[in-house]
Amino acid sequence: MIKMSDILLEATFDDIKNLSYADVKKTFALRKKINQAILNFFPHEDHMVKVEYYGDYIDDEDELTVKELIEYVDKRIDDNVLLNDDISIDPATDKSPTLFIDVGENSFEITSLDDEEFFSENYADRKVKITSKLSMIKMSDILLEAKGFSLPSLPYAYNALEPHIDAETMEEHHKKHHKGYVTKLNDALKSKAAQNLTIEEVLANVKKYDDKVRNNAGGVFNHTLYFNLLSPNATTSPVGELKKELEKTFGSFAKFKEEFTESGTGRFGSGWVWLSLTREGLKIHSTPNQDNPLMSYSEVKGEPIIGMDVWEHAYYLKHRSQRAKYINDFFKVLDWNKAEENYQRILNKE
Ligand SMILES: [Fe+2]
Repeated sequence: MIKMSDILLEATFDDIKNLSYADVKKTFALRKKINQAILNFFPHEDHMVKVEYYGDYIDDEDELTVKELIEYVDKRIDDNVLLNDDISIDPATDKSPTLFIDVGENSFEITSLDDEEFFSENYADRKVKITSKLSMIKMSDILLEAKGFSLPSLPYAYNALEPHIDAETMEEHHKKHHKGYVTKLNDALKSKAAQNLTIEEVLANVKKYDDKVRNNAGGVFNHTLYFNLLSPNATTSPVGELKKELEKTFGSFAKFKEEFTESGTGRFGSGWVWLSLTREGLKIHSTPNQDNPLMSYSEVKGEPIIGMDVWEHAYYLKHRSQRAKYINDFFKVLDWNKAEENYQRILNKE
């Protein structure tokens, strides 16, 4: 049996939020029903049955007592949380000594090994039929997801941005750096009461936590934004409402680009350059390390529309120490459709 406490212990972050207490309770109620159905069908605990099991990965066959069978069924579905999938428990025919149980991807065919007479005589007493629409989420999936924030996959291949940003840089950046922030953030939040928070909520209250959360929550958010802004088929000049606002604020796209580039080359050490929507309108600004405008630490506070990583790990393999060249190449893969999407999302939020 899965214990509620085990689920709550292991499954703590975003994905588990959808698993309500009522759902989990329903799961336990269903397990109980399955056990009762078996006992109704094979009323003697020491009655011998043959069980054939067809599972997701393994098939199995065994001869067991009914008591052992109940434990066996429980064990077989032990790594599953049942929520909204098909469950059916049904005798094969009216007088069959065979019971079929289908629980999601697990199916059991249980045949009585003795007492044929009992089956024909006591059919009315042992009749069971449970059909229910519950779904099945594998415990292992939940655990995988529920270890905390997860690394989003890139919407393009590592080599897709070449020749502007090389495959090796992209792979290192995503698989090592971005992943590293995810892992360390989960680790930093493990014992905090932050399991159900979104990354934005963590960032909004970042002063509550230590620097490990500050650096890694920033790292998770910033890289997700950055990677999603890049595209091998980028629309390389501004579009939509953002284009209008950009021209109003900076005069022209060329002027914007110039100021954005200067902010990037001028950032001492590692950090980020942002185009943010602030209370005073659009602003270009930069932050050190993995800080961002959602954090109270940031001098300029607002909602980031574009974030450009100017850490050396974002460009050093290809561009070496020439950050300006990297920024130039960044603009060749920066997709302004995505920037417009971010802008619209922010406007709609306000
Ligand atoms: Fe980075």
